[in-house]
Amino acid sequence: MPLAEDFAQYATAAEAAFAGASDSATLEAARIALLGANGQEKDLTKAFAAAPGDEKRTLGPLFNAAKGRAKAAFDAAKARLAGAAEDQLIDLTLPVERPRVGSIHPISQVAAEVEEVFRSMGYGVIDGPHIEFDEFNFSRLNIPADHPARDHQDTFWLDHPAAGPGQRLLRTHTSAVQSRTYPALKPPFRRVVVGTVFRYEAVDATHDNTFHQVEGFVVDQDITVAHLVGTIRTMLAALLKRDDIEVRLRPSFFPFVEPGFEVDVRLTKAEPGSRFARWMELMGCGMIHPNVLTAGGIDPAAWQGFAFGLGLERLAMIRHGITDIRVMHGADLRSLHQFGN
Ligand code: FA5
Repeated sequence: MPLAEDFAQYATAAEAAFAGASDSATLEAARIALLGANGQEKDLTKAFAAAPGDEKRTLGPLFNAAKGRAKAAFDAAKARLAGAAEDQLIDLTLPVERPRVGSIHPISQVAAEVEEVFRSMGYGVIDGPHIEFDEFNFSRLNIPADHPARDHQDTFWLDHPAAGPGQRLLRTHTSAVQSRTYPALKPPFRRVVVGTVFRYEAVDATHDNTFHQVEGFVVDQDITVAHLVGTIRTMLAALLKRDDIEVRLRPSFFPFVEPGFEVDVRLTKAEPGSRFARWMELMGCGMIHPNVLTAGGIDPAAWQGFAFGLGLERLAMIRHGITDIRVMHGADLRSLHQFGN
């Protein structure tokens, strides 16, 4: 049946012609020659129409298949050339838009490192709620309801403080986690907390109303201030990664420790006159007050310990040379990206 062979040859020739078309003019010429009104396919249609009726039954599907191959080859060539035309529209001299890659916030970075340093020193990492009761935030930390020491930490109260005990507030310090976990802990123990705290404070270059603290506490036998100082030095050396850290302990008052200290830090290699060349208060610390241990169900005659509370933002500021705390929680990604990793 020679017409069957003609169909197959037509399809093969059409596929080759369309696939070989390297521009739209060649493709159009091939289309006219093959698929056009006076093209090869029209001739085959006429030949098919003239074939005897009984042959048509076999030839029909073969002709349809051949037409299908030719059409598919034409469509593919058309799509290929359209894609190539689009490619040519790309202006290679335009500046590249870089993909936006996120970075870990400087506070999250320091927080993760703090936890790692303390894990390596045998501390367990714990957490507590942001919404706290005055009992844990103040009373059990040796700050009774009528004590003026409550004024040291301006508080966002959720219930009216005058309503009596059991009022809720946004925790002003991570020391609240000490008092709320003591009853569940059996000495000896070491714990560290990294968390958000809140104060009803005027915001300036070194104070925010929402910031982060690291609280560490150790309860054991024969614990002294020397252990406390050694721990602070180990922590700062690991976190600040500098060799010019000068640490100063000043006697200070926190009702939940006795004796209590404030730790200031400065960098001896910082630019003279810069923020970091001056002493910057970084943390409070001291030996845990016997009243706090007693309130937590721990016998102060058998156990002692130390505790410290450190501002994470201040630490990140020293580490990255950031002079204004507002950069930390501002929404300017240009600042944050500089310190990300
Ligand atoms: C306290 O919060 C005590 N709980 C710390 C403590 C714990 C003392 C255990 C003794 C034993 P203070 O209010 O000084 O103390 O805050 C501790 C640290 O948090 C400060 O040294 C400072 O680094 C940081 N800090 C305090 N207020 C702000 C603030 N508004 N913005 C940023 N950081 C602050």
